[in-house]
Amino acid sequence: MSRAATSLVVDQLIDDRRTRIIVCCGSGGVGKTTIAAAVGLRAAERGRHVVVLTVDPARRLAQSMGLTSLDNTPRPVTGVRKRAAARAGAGNDPEHPGSLHAMMLDMKRTFDEIVESHSDPDRAAQILANPFYQSLSSSFAGTQEYMAMEKLGQLRRADEWDLIVVDTPPSRSALDFLDAPQRLGRFLDGRLLRLLVAPAKLGGRSGLRILNAGFGMVTGVVTKIIGSQLLRDVQTFVSAMDTMFGGFRERAEYTYRLLRAPGTAFLVIAAPEPDALREASYFVERLERDEMPLAGLILNRVHRSPAARLSAARSLAAAETLQGLDQSESTGLGIAALRLHAERMRQAESERRLARRFTAAHPLVPVAQVPAQPDDVHDLNGLRIIGSAFAAD
Ligand SMILES: Nc1ncnc2c1ncn2[C@@H]1O[C@H](COP(=O)(O)OP(=O)(O)OP(=O)(O)O)[C@@H](O)[C@H]1O
Ligand SMILES: [Mg+2]
Repeated sequence: MSRAATSLVVDQLIDDRRTRIIVCCGSGGVGKTTIAAAVGLRAAERGRHVVVLTVDPARRLAQSMGLTSLDNTPRPVTGVRKRAAARAGAGNDPEHPGSLHAMMLDMKRTFDEIVESHSDPDRAAQILANPFYQSLSSSFAGTQEYMAMEKLGQLRRADEWDLIVVDTPPSRSALDFLDAPQRLGRFLDGRLLRLLVAPAKLGGRSGLRILNAGFGMVTGVVTKIIGSQLLRDVQTFVSAMDTMFGGFRERAEYTYRLLRAPGTAFLVIAAPEPDALREASYFVERLERDEMPLAGLILNRVHRSPAARLSAARSLAAAETLQGLDQSESTGLGIAALRLHAERMRQAESERRLARRFTAAHPLVPVAQVPAQPDDVHDLNGLRIIGSAFAAD
């Protein structure tokens, strides 16, 4: 027996003042940035004071939100309407309409700021100039996820907004967002790095002697591979960072706790395609295991047919009948339209099947659907259309 999915009511989530953080996760390219911006705009237009943290938004979308430079600071978005603030039942005061701020995550600057705030100016300058730090802060896999979390923690601590909507980086897997802080922590704190810094420290203890021989070899090999200059850079970097390890770890733990706190809600975004839904499944399971609050799944770019009563089979049969009739141009057009319709219907059917399969595996996860728009979503109006789509569900 297949069970229908419960509807995800996004308005309920954003109208609830207890909701303080909404995290939009999902695999690459499914619409995380678009949905995050649409949720933020809708919440602001319903009276909340919102900041949206976006990661790498498409240029036109960024421009429409007033984000012209990557300066790591929330900027007010103009063009937010006040109309919905007075909506009955939303519990909002029309005298105090909502507001929207948006920012783009600048990964490197966020990292630099942590370094600056955790060390004296000389030491900070030394770290910032270190080539190893420079490559770590701008390219290490996971740095972007870590910095998104870091920024989320900062925004929450600033307490200037009553709702923070977070977009997550374009990783292949949605899980990267949850794993990255630990991975980065492990890396910074890693034995190999510690060893490179001070291989001598480990010497002496008998139980470790054999291991040490191995480690010594590793250090030797590493030196050969990465060169002694770089090794020295790594060493200065790690010893300079040493004083900050506690800080890093603490902050990552603070943010991780935030993600589990009441008031946080995860929205998992997926396209109605096998890979994206599989990723969404993994993610849903992971949230459950980590006791993180899942609000629901948004199925984005769903195809619906305007003439759903004409089935694919009947449409194809009609096309065949027409083919036998004549060779005129209008008949040709009719045949093409019927075939296109049949293809659309098949796609819609296959999307529904995938959605049903997801719901069969996760019957308690509420689902909202957002139709595929004819064009890219790149302005506030486009975001409003997306917002009313997931609200109507
Ligand atoms: N419902 C929709 N209909 C039509 N186009 C859409 C829809 N949702 C998103 N798009 C478009 O799809 C593209 C990808 O969307 P978006 O950037 O939000 O995805 P993403 O998950 O953030 O991607 P990445 O993983 O690269 O960060 C954008 O051009 C966006 O305008
Ligand atoms: Mg994105």
